[in-house]
Amino acid sequence: HNHIDAATPAKVKAAITANDVYPHIPDYQNLAAYTARGGYVELTDLRGGARSPEEVQQTVLESGLRGLGGAGFPSGRKWSFVRSYEGPRYLAVNGDEGEPGTFKDRYFLERTPHLFLEGALIAAWAVEAERIFVYMRDEYPAVLEILRREIAALEKARLIEPGYIDLRRGAGAYICGEESAMIESIEGKRGLPRHRPPYVAEVGVFVRPTLVHNVETLHWVARIVREGPEILSSVEKNGRKGLRAYSVSGRVKEPGVKLLPAGSTIRDLIEASGGMLDGHVFKAYQPGGPSSGLLPAALDDVPLDFDMLQPHGSFIGSAAVVVLSDKDSARAAALNMLRFFEDESCGQCTPCRVGCEKAVKLMEADRWDGDLLEDLCQAMADASICGLGQAAPNPIRSTLKHFPGEV
Ligand code: NAI
Ligand code: SF4
Repeated sequence: HNHIDAATPAKVKAAITANDVYPHIPDYQNLAAYTARGGYVELTDLRGGARSPEEVQQTVLESGLRGLGGAGFPSGRKWSFVRSYEGPRYLAVNGDEGEPGTFKDRYFLERTPHLFLEGALIAAWAVEAERIFVYMRDEYPAVLEILRREIAALEKARLIEPGYIDLRRGAGAYICGEESAMIESIEGKRGLPRHRPPYVAEVGVFVRPTLVHNVETLHWVARIVREGPEILSSVEKNGRKGLRAYSVSGRVKEPGVKLLPAGSTIRDLIEASGGMLDGHVFKAYQPGGPSSGLLPAALDDVPLDFDMLQPHGSFIGSAAVVVLSDKDSARAAALNMLRFFEDESCGQCTPCRVGCEKAVKLMEADRWDGDLLEDLCQAMADASICGLGQAAPNPIRSTLKHFPGEV
């Protein structure tokens, strides 16, 4: 945020002095600016009975909106699941954005926080949630400050009751972005994923039915309700519908969040990012976080959308696209990913806790033992409790498949 690489007290003090205030708060659309442009009219109308929750849910379904935390579950469908269980119900917002390479939620929150807040209030209205918990990663201090200010402004404007939106800070654990671990953390416990079923729609925060949405999903809920489902459903490319906020980083000239049609390919993303860095030749890419593994440059015509990467053993997830060049090693990248999973495994189940550690050791050898690694991958994918351990084998498998010469 202030790009303090080694946060020694002296460096932090120097950075604070240099920037006057810490954290640096970017220019963003505050409540006054948002309401001046028609913000919160939809919410007020809905609360006044202009449309039923079912009608709004139908609009969200028509837009094709899917969960943008990465899983792509149809957003509108979750609302009827949650409503089918007796209240009191809650809404829990996942703002933990821990996937390496993902920064789209931060992008939206640092610019238009009220689109997210109005979307959250509309979703809460739709499932009659008694309270909203917003779980925000502590590594986003500017976002936390913006939300504190704007939630207070909403209370002052009497758009919400004091305390209706409860802002909770994460503490840097990747696993707390897994929805049930996030719920444990909101409850004040250690963030250990729960077995499912039951899904959080039935047994969520404090054992109550809970609607869980990612930040960006709610941003789009507000836009769809105000502007109509066509803002997503009318965009078409390569046979895919909708828009996707890709977080692009790596060996490109202009990394950043690129809002493009959901049918875009890696070539489109590189072009939208100013092309490859001078002297770098495109070699491989991570399409959706480390759990999506690595794909070779030869697979450059695949639409980077939900369901499109499964045939290649991958998925788009939260669209955290990292571009690698001929100066990068796929083997080193995969090892780095497994070291990350080893660090971040919560340790509660053996296939993941021991599996990640064992995989790192096997990947540090001069030559990878492909058969043994594949056995290990299968055990981890089959027997781990949550997505972390189930998807951790993907970088291993994709490197064995696409870059055998390196291992
Ligand atoms: P999932 O597919 O198991 O579940 C997705 C959502 O649908 C959850 O809210 C779940 O409760 C709900 N759901 C699924 N089946 C249901 C049913 N039968 N009844 C009621 N609700 C149901 O995926 P999961 O494990 O929640 O998320 C995995 C994704 O998370 C990965 O694709 C990965 O890309 C992404 N991810 C994103 C990160 C980020 O920073 N944005 C970090 C790490 C992973
Ligand atoms: Fe914890 Fe890994 Fe098991 Fe998930 S798979 S519950 S992160 S040990």
